[in-house]
Order: sequence, then structure tokens, then C-alpha cells
Amino acid sequence: MNGIEFRNVTKRYGADKNAPLAVKGISFEVPVGTLTTILGPSGCGKTTTLRMIAGLESPTSGSILMGGRDVTTLGPAERNVSMMFQSYALFPHMNVIENVAYGLRMSGVKKDEAAARAREALRGVGLVGFDERLPSELSGGQQQRVALARALVLEPAVLLFDEPLSNLDARLRREMREEIRALQQRLKLTVAYVTHDQSEALAVSDQIIVMDHGVIAQRGTPEQLYGRPESEFVAGFMGEAMVFPAVAEADGSVALGPLRLQPRYAVAPGTVKVAVRPEAWRIGAADATGGLPATLRKSAYLGSFYEYGFDTTLGQVFVVSTDLSSPLAAGAQATLSLGAHGVSVVPGA
Ligand SMILES: Nc1ncnc2c1ncn2[C@@H]1O[C@H](COP(=O)(O)OP(=O)(O)OP(=O)(O)O)[C@@H](O)[C@H]1O
Ligand SMILES: [Mg+2]
Repeated sequence: MNGIEFRNVTKRYGADKNAPLAVKGISFEVPVGTLTTILGPSGCGKTTTLRMIAGLESPTSGSILMGGRDVTTLGPAERNVSMMFQSYALFPHMNVIENVAYGLRMSGVKKDEAAARAREALRGVGLVGFDERLPSELSGGQQQRVALARALVLEPAVLLFDEPLSNLDARLRREMREEIRALQQRLKLTVAYVTHDQSEALAVSDQIIVMDHGVIAQRGTPEQLYGRPESEFVAGFMGEAMVFPAVAEADGSVALGPLRLQPRYAVAPGTVKVAVRPEAWRIGAADATGGLPATLRKSAYLGSFYEYGFDTTLGQVFVVSTDLSSPLAAGAQATLSLGAHGVSVVPGA
């Protein structure tokens, strides 16, 4: 059963038929009880997509289904959806309980019951003992929890987040994203979550949809997107892959300088590109055979790993090594080879 389904949805803002499409015919499903992130650079259409799920924008063409029902022409109130915005916009003159109870009051729930349910939702997000405070008397993380409780208290079939953590510092972001994920799994919520932070997407998602200029560049599990990017754009967006020109041979192998790779799926002979994660490189002794000769130019110690920059015939190669026991010094000679993970052949000229 799909919580959300898009069928060939496009969106053009305004009445001008020649205006460019913000969303150019996208199709995807978010199964009930799962979390999908929509990931991509600024302006690629993430918020537009989310607003169409919420019913705050209507598609120019295509259809949207929720729980198997066509909701394309329904307004936000008829969709059983809650949305938590980037700026979580609590009502400044209302205390915490009133903020959380507001939506329930609006839909006709009696004051005492609304307050009781608000208190319950606040407990669910770990915010107890702040009921009477105003938003201005809370930290950013606490305000975030109030906003989350306010979205949850309505018990929506679908919960939407638009960059919910962007106002928080790094540590709080990590904490909150873990809590959102835990809550989503505990309550089996159907969630669409917009972010432009790939590590956030990898950490919380069942499915990631990468968008680029209004189209879906690729969608799949975090493992598929990180480990098997199908384009240079996705490889570059999902972490720090370096992309090298390479040649696909008639026998199906790919030559990357002196290295030979076996692609996971067949590629036509000719020019291709190979995307390599910095942690995919193996550093061997200088006299090892069959690898890529390399000279260490620079190194940086990052606590749990080293970052190395090697000069090679393929150009500068960036390598992450978790071998802390035998660090290399600048000028060291080595031979680089590739492990099985983090190497992808992508089409390209
Ligand atoms: N109300 C609007 N009227 C006209 N054009 C709009 C409107 N809202 C968004 N757009 C355009 O639609 C495209 C997609 O915008 P959208 O807000 O969906 O991007 P986004 O992926 O959420 O970006 P960001 O990461 O910066 O929030 C952009 O080119 C934007 O300028
Ligand atoms: Mg946006």
C-alpha cells in the first residue's frame, strides 16, 4: 500500500504557458509507514514537490494518490497531512501547550481534551515541564520539538518535513534526526522529508529521491544511491566521489589508467566515467604490481582517519584511510588499488 504516489506530475508556476516547469514529470511512491527523503540542490523542486503532496500547490498535470485515493484536486484540509516547515513558526504569543493544541482546537476539539493530547504529544518528543513557556523562552532545539509535537498531535496519515533541522547546530541536528527517525519507526508514520544534506538523507531514509532541475535523477535505498550512483551528478551529490575518465573495453572491463574494473552492469565499449569514493582506495607498497603508482603530496589527520592527496597519472587522487597505525609522510611512494565498494562506472563522454 502506498501512502503517497505521484504519477507523471508536472508543475508550472503562474499563468504563462512559456514559463519553465519547476517539476518536470516525476513519478514515485512512498509506501505506508516508511520515510522518503527528497534530496537535491537549491531550486531543484523539492519544496514544490512537498507542497503538492500537502495540497498547498496543485499540479499542472499528472495525478497524486494518497492511500490509493486520487487527491489531485483536493485541498490541504481534505488530505490528512501535516507539514513542518523550515522556519517552524510557532505562535510567539501562545505558550507551548497552546501552540501544540492549536490545530486540534481549530478542528473543534474541546479545550481540556486538546490540552491533554498536546501534553501527550510533547511527552512523545521528550519535552516535559515546559508547558507554560513562550517560544522565546525556549532554546532552538526545544522550539523544534514543539513544532514536531504540533505536527504529530494531529495524527496525520502523512507527515511532511521541509528542511526541519536547518536552523540547528551540528550536534542538535544529529540528535533531532535520530529522534525523528525513531518516532517515525515507532509510530509507523508515512513521511516525506526534504533536505539538501546528503548525510542527513543517508541517516534517516528508507528511500532517497535525488532531484536535479525538476526531474528525478535517481531513487533507491541509501545503499543504492551511495554505492551505485547511475550518473555523475548523483555520484557527486551523494558524498565526495571523484570522477575520472575511463575506457570501456570490448570484453566488458573498464580501464582506469593501469587499473582494470569489472562494472556491475554491462557498458557499451567507448568512453565512460568512473566515480570513486575516497574510502574505496587501498594503499599498497610502492613495489606492488598492477596498481596505480602514486606519490603522497599532502596529508591531514582528522582524528578517526587520515586524508591523503596523491599525485598520480590520473591527476590528484583524494584518499581517506582509517589505518591510523602507519601514517604516510609527504613524498612517500605507494601503489593505489580499488576495493569492491564505492566504485561506480557511470555513463559519460
Ligand atoms: N511561488 C513561486 N512562483 C514562481 N516560481 C517559483 C515559486 N516557488 C518556487 N519557484 C521556482 O520553482 C523552482 C523550484 O523551487 P523550489 O522551492 O521547489 O526549490 P527547492 O528545491 O525547494 O530549493 P531550496 O533548496 O532552495 O529550498 C525554482 O526555480 C523556483 O524559483
Ligand atoms: Mg525548498
